[in-house]
Amino acid sequence: MHPAIRMKGVGMRFAGGRRTPPYQALEGVDLEVREGEFFCLLGPSGCGKTSLLNLVAGFVQPTAGTVEIGGRAVGEPDKDRGVVFQSDRALFDWLTVEENVAFGLRIRGVPQAQWRAPVDELLRVVGLWDHRAKLPRELSGGMKQRVQIARVLANDPDILLMDEPFAALDAHTRGRMQKEVARIWEKWRRTVLFVTHDIAEAIWLADRIGIMTKGPGSHIRAILEVDLPRPRARMDAAFVDLFNRLTDAIELEARGVEHEGAGV
Ligand SMILES: Nc1ncnc2c1ncn2[C@@H]1O[C@H](COP(=O)(O)OP(=O)(O)OP(=O)(O)O)[C@@H](O)[C@H]1O
Ligand SMILES: [Mg+2]
Repeated sequence: MHPAIRMKGVGMRFAGGRRTPPYQALEGVDLEVREGEFFCLLGPSGCGKTSLLNLVAGFVQPTAGTVEIGGRAVGEPDKDRGVVFQSDRALFDWLTVEENVAFGLRIRGVPQAQWRAPVDELLRVVGLWDHRAKLPRELSGGMKQRVQIARVLANDPDILLMDEPFAALDAHTRGRMQKEVARIWEKWRRTVLFVTHDIAEAIWLADRIGIMTKGPGSHIRAILEVDLPRPRARMDAAFVDLFNRLTDAIELEARGVEHEGAGV
């Protein structure tokens, strides 16, 4: 079976402009994400995580190497890859929660009789059933993110791409959302590529964690298997041990210290 996502020798060079020099954000990125796997990308700010995700989404083309989805060269952005952005401005603010979630199905001409049941289920899964008639401006930040997640899941994507989806949330809401995403994933078993610079979040969620090097020319330095039973306990000795090892590795990475293997 083909991996869900395969990147080989991927480079991303931004051409620059009149006032900015060209910039080689990614270089020699090799990555294979398995079908149904929850894969977290962890790396310092500005290393190229969003750039990598954008390549998988098909928003941009690599300047070197290949990106494959299910064994085929990545094409235009499509509903087989659902993207959850960091910003909650991705919602349609004139549509209710329910209309936002049903949007993709409706524009594809799926009749209400067919989208009703799955949309209702999703609204329940993300805990927004009682809020389904509200407009985005009547929701908290965490609720808006849950609408985004439900809207993407309604399109039934094969791959879920999430770019720091909880970065703007307070610690409490963030913890709740991490639990919800873990729960949703265990039920759906989609392939997830999840970008974060929050180490505990990555350990909480991931099957494997890819550590990216500091740019320029960022690539994946090391891949770590998170072999902890779910749901995970943050106070567990194994969790804390992994957290400390990853913290050290990221710290070294951020300082640009050479440490092949990231020490993990
Ligand atoms: N369109 C662009 N044109 C030029 N340079 C860009 C462009 N997009 C990103 N970059 C540069 O590429 C590098 C990687 O950016 P990217 O947004 O992928 O980082 P990131 O890892 O997602 O950072 P953060 O954790 O802060 O979100 C940065 O140095 C950035 O300035
Ligand atoms: Mg980013």
